[in-house]
Amino acid sequence: MKVAIVGATGLVGRNIIKESEKLLPRETEYHLFASSKSAGKSLTINNKDVIVEELNTRNIGEYDIALFSAGGDRSKEFAEQFISQGAYVVDNSSAFRMLEDVPLVVYGINENEITTTTKLIANPNCTTMGLVMALKPLHDRFNLHTITPVAYQAVSGSGTEAVKSLRNEESLDSESLLTVEEIFYPKPIARNVIPLAGNLTENDYSDEEMKIVYESRKILDIPELIVEPSNARVGVVTGHGVFCSAVFEKEIDTKEAIQVLNNFEGVEYWSETLATPLDAENNNNVLVSRLRRGLSSKKIINFWCVSDNLLKGAALNAVQIARYLVYK
Ligand SMILES: NC(=O)c1ccc[n+]([C@@H]2O[C@H](COP(=O)([O-])OP(=O)(O)OC[C@H]3O[C@@H](n4cnc5c(N)ncnc54)[C@H](OP(=O)(O)O)[C@@H]3O)[C@@H](O)[C@H]2O)c1
Repeated sequence: MKVAIVGATGLVGRNIIKESEKLLPRETEYHLFASSKSAGKSLTINNKDVIVEELNTRNIGEYDIALFSAGGDRSKEFAEQFISQGAYVVDNSSAFRMLEDVPLVVYGINENEITTTTKLIANPNCTTMGLVMALKPLHDRFNLHTITPVAYQAVSGSGTEAVKSLRNEESLDSESLLTVEEIFYPKPIARNVIPLAGNLTENDYSDEEMKIVYESRKILDIPELIVEPSNARVGVVTGHGVFCSAVFEKEIDTKEAIQVLNNFEGVEYWSETLATPLDAENNNNVLVSRLRRGLSSKKIINFWCVSDNLLKGAALNAVQIARYLVYK
């Protein structure tokens, strides 16, 4: 089997390499692509050094699967070229997520939407992915109606340059931080919380907030789901957390809610200790804690969930889909 990893040198791409080593057949032949600046570098996969190639029209060959994490513009320009040479494309960018004929797949929730004619599969947004993993088993039992998620998005969700900026900022004192000019976000992120993640859209919500609205409806197949999102960026390296208030059609028994969460593959309820981004880092599972019944209604629960944005939020899910394509 031949697999192309497009954006192999990035934060997601490097994790795709690690997950592929664990989940895909050992004999898989890998081809790694990135920008011209990385061409000629070598990355190790299954103890073999593989030279990174520049992504361009001339060197796209025949692959079984191409895993894309090189930004939406590259996906728009090159995904179709890989598909026309026979590959399945699993795309981490937001380029195709809301297209009607493209399945938006969270492995464990809706991989059965991949049909015999599917060639392009979209990997959801990293914040949405962790949240819907917690919501899915609760929805199946109690019928979800409304969610009010407040997301605390980690810096690695914005890629390599954002993490570099955080590292530089960490060496500055608070006074210098407020005047420093070359920073990734509009405000310093070291030791800080910025009450906006992503870019504002016309309705005053950010694109990151609107991704939660549209993508959770599509993944959970609840077109009328009411979503009231607020997303902040926090000075955490990895691990997106979400406080979510969820309204259901049925009354909730909290013990049963915890049980359905624990019975769902890929989700763990933590009752003895609080689940934090540091706990979620390098953990394949979505961690849930602080589940409480609403103060105003027996149909509401409030909970916290946190997951590794580079793993289940990106690379792990993409490779789980790839493995599904191999063995289905
Ligand atoms: N980070 C997350 O938590 C996360 C989660 C879900 C989805 N995503 C999505 O995944 C994608 C990658 O994110 P990331 O965090 O890995 O970003 P990143 O660390 O900045 O990596 C970007 C990758 O894209 C490559 N690239 C950039 N311009 C290119 C070009 N012109 N031609 C070919 N390759 C090019 C880079 O290659 P060079 O190293 O050569 O520049 C690098 O491999 C984005 O679409 C992002 O929205 C990220």
